[in-house]
Amino acid sequence: MSDRLKGKVAIVTGAGSRGPGLGNGKAAAILFAREGARVLCVDLVPERAEDTVTIIGGEGGEAAAFAADVTRAADCEGMVAETVRRWGGLDVLHNNVGIESRTDLVDTEEDDWDRVMAVDLKSMFLSTRAAVRAMEKRGGGAVVCVSSVAALRGHGRTAYATAKAGVIGFVRSVAVQLGPKGIRVNAIAPGAVWTPMVADLGPEARERRRRATPLGTEGTGWDIGWGAVYLASDEARWVTGQTLIIDAGLTATTR
Ligand SMILES: NC(=O)c1ccc[n+]([C@@H]2O[C@H](COP(=O)([O-])OP(=O)(O)OC[C@H]3O[C@@H](n4cnc5c(N)ncnc54)[C@H](O)[C@@H]3O)[C@@H](O)[C@H]2O)c1
Repeated sequence: MSDRLKGKVAIVTGAGSRGPGLGNGKAAAILFAREGARVLCVDLVPERAEDTVTIIGGEGGEAAAFAADVTRAADCEGMVAETVRRWGGLDVLHNNVGIESRTDLVDTEEDDWDRVMAVDLKSMFLSTRAAVRAMEKRGGGAVVCVSSVAALRGHGRTAYATAKAGVIGFVRSVAVQLGPKGIRVNAIAPGAVWTPMVADLGPEARERRRRATPLGTEGTGWDIGWGAVYLASDEARWVTGQTLIIDAGLTATTR
């Protein structure tokens, strides 16, 4: 631990993991706490957030669980209000929540499209909007939104790729608006990291995902979490409106 987030108060959405192991949000919440932040671990499923809080507490960090559905404006306002009530302000919002849809254009049902847009994109708008006033009161802050390399490469999963591309557009637009308030807004585009979200793809897909990258190594939630630490910290004080690609070089290839 090197206190890169010492004194900061953070929210991580989707701070639990959907299955055994370590997701991107869980890893980010743990790393934020290790770096000195107090962390509100937000999740739709309370036990998942509580599991992350237990891990952080076991390491001597400070965190609390909060149940919320970030597709609902009132829940987003509620998570910010709880953070301010508990710790007196808000410095970092890590918008990690996202779900996958694996169908191509013709097989995508309208309901599925709407659900992915709500969870992967609308949640970014609602959470960030809810955080602005609290961050302004601190004289600034950092917002990190999780996109995906699916937004950057031709990708068969149409709703997911579209929503994740929307995240990048959202970040650019909002970074310009919030820059004068001292609020930085950036995206992370993870590559094919191995997390509980994709565990059902099975061992063959796991190997294929690993081998597709120039580095040829497997990424984990920690790799994405370290990117979030950087963008959340004052080390990134001059970085806004950007997308940090963390993918072992996948997007640099023509494969
Ligand atoms: N694993 C990969 O290969 C990969 C690649 C690119 C991007 N990503 C992105 O990483 C992010 C997810 O990472 P993860 O590993 O933490 O996933 P995860 O599914 O393990 O955990 C996400 C958590 O979000 C919670 N959640 C879902 N909907 C919610 C809602 N409406 N409100 C509040 N909480 C909700 C779930 O309960 C879950 O605990 C997503 O944005 C995903 O698109 C993952």
